[in-house]
Amino acid sequence: MRKFAKIALAAACFATAAVAHAAEPFKIGFIIPMTGPFASTGKQAVAGAKLYMQQHGDEVAGRKVELIIKDDGGVQPETTKRIAQELVVQDKVNVLAGFGLTPLAFAAAPIATQAKVPMVVTAAGTSSIVQKSPYIVRTSMTLPQTTAPIAAWARDNKDVKIDTAVTLVADYGPGHDAEKVFVKTFTEKGGKVLESIRSPMANPDFSAFLQRVRDLKPDALFVFVPSGQGTAVLKQFKERNLAAEGINLIGTGDMVEDDLMPSMGDEVLGIITSHHYSAAHDSETNKEFVKAFAEANDGMRASFMGVGAYDGMHLIYEALKKAGPDATGDELLAAMKGMEWESPRGPIRIDPETRDIVQNIYIREAKKLDNGERYNVEFDVVEMFKDPGV
Ligand code: PHB
Repeated sequence: MRKFAKIALAAACFATAAVAHAAEPFKIGFIIPMTGPFASTGKQAVAGAKLYMQQHGDEVAGRKVELIIKDDGGVQPETTKRIAQELVVQDKVNVLAGFGLTPLAFAAAPIATQAKVPMVVTAAGTSSIVQKSPYIVRTSMTLPQTTAPIAAWARDNKDVKIDTAVTLVADYGPGHDAEKVFVKTFTEKGGKVLESIRSPMANPDFSAFLQRVRDLKPDALFVFVPSGQGTAVLKQFKERNLAAEGINLIGTGDMVEDDLMPSMGDEVLGIITSHHYSAAHDSETNKEFVKAFAEANDGMRASFMGVGAYDGMHLIYEALKKAGPDATGDELLAAMKGMEWESPRGPIRIDPETRDIVQNIYIREAKKLDNGERYNVEFDVVEMFKDPGV
């Protein structure tokens, strides 16, 4: 009798615990600029994260998943840090995610470390970000990773003679990484960099810089600008007639984002860039993704910012499945390390040592397809390329 009572009590406690547990959602605090100069990043990222949940449901390992989206405005690191703190302390989030720009990821890193909460960087790209906290895991890209292949292509390709170049980069972390790696790779292969120009990070006016490039007359201008600024560069490149001067515009794919290609004019055609994602990537996984993304977002074309967030959600969902519903931050982090899957961009893996993304980097040319739409068409690839660092 007594024994039975004990078992019944234990069962009742277990049931209560299970109920209490089920009532407690698994929370993802997603911080991204939804307003301000980098709002286009947030628009893509939120669309990517929401699409993932729409396709995979909001219950994982028996636990309800709640996505808490916070707009940090994109320019004030202190704001991002405060939001991360509030998400951890008040909302008790299990994971932090998003981070549209490098300084914002840097600012939140200590919060992730203190709270022992995984911080999934889905957008920012400075190489050193993953070193700012052992809890950071990245699903975007790094600038050294996306830059080295285009610098090598500039020297190795047989079609366009590029002996001299000028670099133009946004004057902060990812731009500095891109500049260093471009100069190093291009120079090692016998090219000459005539000048390295840096533009202000926020609201830059490229006209004076491009006039300088016109005067220098390099064979190529290499550009890195963060997502959202490419249209302005292209417009001013065209206005100054730099192409007619024989200057080839090359860069990382940030300049020719997929979602902006429809509104960019034909001046984008022929531009060669290297990047980890193109909406025209030729795989079934990507075709389905691009279609579903457009359907869920008024026809918007998916870009690398959308894919970074989509994959970030996949990483979190799979880690929760693997580590179980009661997993601590450390257990989730351990589950994330070494994970690999087929992304819309191609095969990807989280390096278990660095927690950084390993992925294909494609060389692409902006082309008009038969249906009249402009896309970055991939024609070469560096497979499963790790961040080479700076
Ligand atoms: C960054 O701030 O790290 C960043 C932002 C936008 C990009 C690339 C890098 O397109």
